[in-house]
Amino acid sequence: MTIQSKLIKEIKNSLKKNKIKINTPIIIQKNKFKKKGHFQVNNLFQISHECKINYFTLAKKIINKINLNKIIKSINFSKPCFINIFLNPRWIEKKIEKKVKKKIIFKKNNKKVVIDYSSPNVAKSMHVGHLRSTVIGDAMARIMEFSGYNVIRSNHIGDWGNQFGMLIAYLKKKKINHIKNISIQKIEKIYRQAKKKSLKNKKFLKKTEKYTSKLQKNSTYYNNIWKKVVQLTLRENKIIYQLLNISLQDKNIFGESFYKEIVKKIVPDLIQRKIARVKNKNVIVFLKDFKNRKGEKMGIILQKKSGAFLYSATDIACMKYRCKTLKADIILYYIDSRQKQYLQQIYKIAKIAGYTTKKTIIQHHMFGMVLSKNKHPFQTRSGNTIKLIDLINQSIKKAKKIILKKNENIEYTTLLKLSKIIGIGALKYADLSKNRKKNYVFDWKKMLSFEGNTSLYIQYTYIRIYSILKKYKKKISHLNNKFMISNNYELFLSIEILQFKETILKTVKNGQPHLLCKYIYKLASKYSKFYEKYNILNNKNKKIRNSQLQMSFLIAKILKKGLNILGIQVMKFI
Ligand code: ARG
Repeated sequence: MTIQSKLIKEIKNSLKKNKIKINTPIIIQKNKFKKKGHFQVNNLFQISHECKINYFTLAKKIINKINLNKIIKSINFSKPCFINIFLNPRWIEKKIEKKVKKKIIFKKNNKKVVIDYSSPNVAKSMHVGHLRSTVIGDAMARIMEFSGYNVIRSNHIGDWGNQFGMLIAYLKKKKINHIKNISIQKIEKIYRQAKKKSLKNKKFLKKTEKYTSKLQKNSTYYNNIWKKVVQLTLRENKIIYQLLNISLQDKNIFGESFYKEIVKKIVPDLIQRKIARVKNKNVIVFLKDFKNRKGEKMGIILQKKSGAFLYSATDIACMKYRCKTLKADIILYYIDSRQKQYLQQIYKIAKIAGYTTKKTIIQHHMFGMVLSKNKHPFQTRSGNTIKLIDLINQSIKKAKKIILKKNENIEYTTLLKLSKIIGIGALKYADLSKNRKKNYVFDWKKMLSFEGNTSLYIQYTYIRIYSILKKYKKKISHLNNKFMISNNYELFLSIEILQFKETILKTVKNGQPHLLCKYIYKLASKYSKFYEKYNILNNKNKKIRNSQLQMSFLIAKILKKGLNILGIQVMKFI
């Protein structure tokens, strides 16, 4: 139960004692002006409107009958229309005391959630466009797992589309028979050339479609090329996942080809049930809720006349599989906002066809773009897409410089380890700490700063606490004293500690890791102020010292856990 919900319960009790019945949900939020109270009832006016009692009189009634001394220490009214609540420090102390000895865990909730993320296309290297899906999706997978969900990670790689037809057509034309020692860069180049050619040459385009269809019909020659290219791409992607500390493994790959047998069944099924139509030999679904530029019903092509199935058909099959076979409770798609309409259409078709289930919640957790300072898409100087591996290496290099500036005599292996933790952390955190629904501007300087909402700041705060605890030498969880709050810093930090779990729940509910980032940043910055003011280990009052140690220990635990479930590591040495 969160602090807010406990307070709501107390307010409800008071209303009951006053014989006042309301339907309006009571909204309680943290008070920005701490002197006025820790929490406040924010919608007193609305409530008074419903029960037709003047808000001031209502506030008085609530205050008069409130149950004091357990959770609430005092309560008052303030203008224009708030009820302010001060928590009882004794109650907070007891809660904190319990936390020192316990691990931070959630109960398993038996809900199955499929998270579709990363999902790059095969035959290409990953680029900056894959950063958000990979990093945000992975953080959400970790956070949901931590909060008790049964998470199925699903890397929906694009391994069944027209790029293979293109590659094969080009290879055939150039009479290249084997691609044994070819690099992914070379394949990408061939693909680009083939694409260019297909735009100019209709005959070539037709060939590419024919070859894609042949691949999809399991012809051996085509399949061997396909396998090779998939393997090559996956090997490269794996390096990136490892460097970025992404929890995706081979077993999480459920690419487009994984659904090939289902696709073969659903397309005829959709035709037979008149949901799809054959027009000019293409299989199309027309949806009345979606209009094209001319204002006509929009058509979504599932299968080309060459026989090749498209991305859309696979996604419908995939949705069916996740709903009916996996029996998922929740399906989350971490895909950029440009595919919003596309996903709505897929969902609509699957729903009409009865391929979805009522119990399954299906959501598109879309995100905006990464921009450069001039607000254009983030690209290389020459206007090309930035490869993800280059971005990663650059980040590690920059981190190395920062570390060397602080300590030029650092041991080499430590330097390597640290620059990876700091560089990768900064790259990921910069992305995670922004509201995913918006575009954001990529800024090396800001993200690798010791100040502000950065991973480095939080990692650094963690080290500060870690070094205090290390100097103390004894186990904090063995401290057998009563936890005691002796000043306002400790009071506010303790309230903040008690809000970790509800922050996790809020992050899960919205699928927005920036909420967790905001919380750990606030915790770290509040702690830093406390740290600058109090010299914990030198405090002569043992009771206060021990309590401060316990509080520091809990904060370090939360900072570490918070970063870890965002997919970011902490360092214990510097
Ligand atoms: N491969 C796609 C792309 O690069 C993303 C796939 C996302 N997942 C899905 N189920 N459509 O744009």
